[in-house]
Amino acid sequence: MDSEDSEEVWAQAHKEGLSHPLNTDMTMPRLAEKYTSGRRALEIGCGIGKMINPFHLAGYDIMGVEQCKFAVKVSHTRFPAHSFFLSRGQFLPFRERSFDVVYTNTCLQHNFHWRKLWVVQAIHYILKEDGLFLTQEDTGGGAGVHKRRWVDNPYCLTEKGYEALMLVGGFQLLEKVVINIKTEDSVMVWAKIHET
Ligand SMILES: C[S@@+](CC[C@H](N)C(=O)[O-])C[C@H]1O[C@@H](n2cnc3c(N)ncnc32)[C@H](O)[C@@H]1O
Repeated sequence: MDSEDSEEVWAQAHKEGLSHPLNTDMTMPRLAEKYTSGRRALEIGCGIGKMINPFHLAGYDIMGVEQCKFAVKVSHTRFPAHSFFLSRGQFLPFRERSFDVVYTNTCLQHNFHWRKLWVVQAIHYILKEDGLFLTQEDTGGGAGVHKRRWVDNPYCLTEKGYEALMLVGGFQLLEKVVINIKTEDSVMVWAKIHET
């Protein structure tokens, strides 16, 4: 097990993160609403629920999957009306075509590339045909703080790398919205590719 994958490393990181406020940036739910009226959403790698909050505020019926036990407990406590599962993104305990929206926020970037693909394929399986996949992942090509912070992360893909990964996983890019020009943080919206 590598350090990016370790329960202790993530539990420690999440304990430190408890002092940070929950995210209130509504970009992700607003983008989801632009493309689908479906309200059943799932976050993969939800941590302590920072990005559950915007979908909660937007009134989604939301679930979270997370590999760190401590984080699952915190999310349960913070959002008792929603459901959280201790599991890995590549082994999702859900039926085929059961979600309208699935999203990740700085989660895929902590998985080696072949494991990213497993997660993307598992997401493809549980998303409805007209469902959406939204990602906010560091692309390793950013500037300033962003670039320095993840310059050593061997798992970071470039934006083109994400497009290739998604294509192999069965998704195409619908829209990209830059939410921070300085750090180049962006939300990417993906739709299932339909066979013709
Ligand atoms: C940087 S934290 C982000 C947490 C949350 N998405 C947020 O925005 O606050 C990354 C989280 O993804 C989880 N994670 C990474 N890879 C995962 C996987 N394959 N399956 C489930 N959880 C995963 C980690 O345990 C960690 O809690």
